[in-house]
Amino acid sequence: MKKIKYPIDKHDWHPSLIPGLIVLISSYNSEKESNIAPKSWLQMVSFEPPILMFSGTEGNTTEKNIIESNCFGVNFVDSSKASKVFDCIQWFGKERIEQTGFTMIRARKINAPLIQECKAHLECRLLSTIKVGSGFVIFGEIVAASIWEEILRVEHEKRYELLDPIVFLEDGMYSRINNTSKV
Ligand SMILES: Cc1cc2nc3c(=O)[nH]c(=O)nc-3n(C[C@H](O)[C@H](O)[C@H](O)COP(=O)(O)O)c2cc1C
Repeated sequence: MKKIKYPIDKHDWHPSLIPGLIVLISSYNSEKESNIAPKSWLQMVSFEPPILMFSGTEGNTTEKNIIESNCFGVNFVDSSKASKVFDCIQWFGKERIEQTGFTMIRARKINAPLIQECKAHLECRLLSTIKVGSGFVIFGEIVAASIWEEILRVEHEKRYELLDPIVFLEDGMYSRINNTSKV
């Protein structure tokens, strides 16, 4: 297998070498106004306690809200919502939520909203932040999780079909994760 040079700038990766799960991060500002933003640089970092991280942008509404409220929701996006989620960043704040038509609901344990139409959610409390290069990384401890009950009614392997997670490949392109195999 002959290898040739490939760019190190992620913008120039076609194909992308690091696809990322697409989620919507939900948060409140200090006035309890809701905000949602798509993110795909999301990663687990610890089993015990359960901690995840995502890399955001310093000064954006999501990151400001999380620092103010100490909490955020992670809402998993399925393929039926892909185009809505990619398109929604042309609007901001309340208008973004109105344009997507998503319904904000209360979380069980955190001071952040969740998105009713998503099939699964994680509720996180802010642990720490760190600026890394152009990124602003947020670490959150998962304190509650919920999932659409129908997903747990089907057999193990079929659950991915129902959850129907998607990954970001490059601008305007995503992929479904619905073709699972057992090793
Ligand atoms: C599919 C998708 C994935 C994205 N992933 C990220 C990400 O991982 N990190 C990031 O900082 N911005 C990401 N963005 C861009 C933010 O969603 C965008 O800057 C948004 O306007 C931020 O909203 P806010 O200012 O309300 O927080 C992504 C956008 C899309 C459409």
